[in-house]
Amino acid sequence: MVEETRLSVDDLIFPLFLVEGKKIKQEVLSMPGIYRFSMDELLIEIGACIELGIKSFAPFPSIDQKLKDSYASESHNRQGLYIRSIGAIKKQFPEVCLVTDVAMDPYSSDGHDGIVNSGEILNDETLEVLGKMALAQAQAGTDIIGPSDMMDGRVGYLREVLDQGGFKNVSIMSYTAKYASAFYSPFRDALDSAPKSGDKKTYQMNPANQREALTEARLDTEEGADFLMVKPALSYLDVIKLLKDHFDLPIAAYNVSGEYAMVKAAAQKGWLDGDKIMLEILTSIKRAGADVILSYFAKEFAQLKD
Ligand code: PBG
Repeated sequence: MVEETRLSVDDLIFPLFLVEGKKIKQEVLSMPGIYRFSMDELLIEIGACIELGIKSFAPFPSIDQKLKDSYASESHNRQGLYIRSIGAIKKQFPEVCLVTDVAMDPYSSDGHDGIVNSGEILNDETLEVLGKMALAQAQAGTDIIGPSDMMDGRVGYLREVLDQGGFKNVSIMSYTAKYASAFYSPFRDALDSAPKSGDKKTYQMNPANQREALTEARLDTEEGADFLMVKPALSYLDVIKLLKDHFDLPIAAYNVSGEYAMVKAAAQKGWLDGDKIMLEILTSIKRAGADVILSYFAKEFAQLKD
């Protein structure tokens, strides 16, 4: 009766990994229970998740090395894996809410979220690539774009591109306070997208900073974001709370791959009770102020409830 925080499957967005091919369901080594799916298998998986009550999905593509280049050209190829899949998912399941990824790294031969020139990231030139990507995704039928790149000014730029393209109703879930974190490595394994040189510290935030998140959130709000995201979640609960207290937009939190991997590894060894830890972690993220949580635990949580 006096419980303050209740988790529901409605709070969750399920990230999914996609690969080219047929009949592929390949477990990610560092993420037990999470798979790379070919498009046919992905549609089956989404169908199963819908049965469990999950309504929202965030697909990410694992792109063949041969298709990667420094300009992430494959990212806006209408016949490419990602754009085709968005169309296929929305055709088969028009009722699902898709949050699609806008960032260069899955398609970049440099493994960065921006165009690299002599070791530096070209912010403004990158915006043009992100714009093409967002437009291709909108045309394929996405509901929400999720710019996960952390370039400056990209929310305003993408809003403009979408509006001018006739996609006023496509929302933007901005990765607002995205930290340069070591918790992303299983995700980079899944997509084979680790930076080939350098790191992401010139565009992702310093884990030591909290107030900087307010600046990022103010800019994203002014530029037209519809959601503000904090990422990772667990080591940044204070940042989730801070944004919740200062902004009226819905707050999203990304319970990232490394947070999932830690729990799975300990549970496999019998050191922790995986189900209880999952519930405690998700509850803490919601208690801190997240309205929506992207989590690899989404399906397991939904199954637990049933
Ligand atoms: C990059 C991106 C990353 C994640 C989502 N989008 C990793 C990175 O910044 O290198 C990580 C998600 C996770 O770890 O679960 N655009």
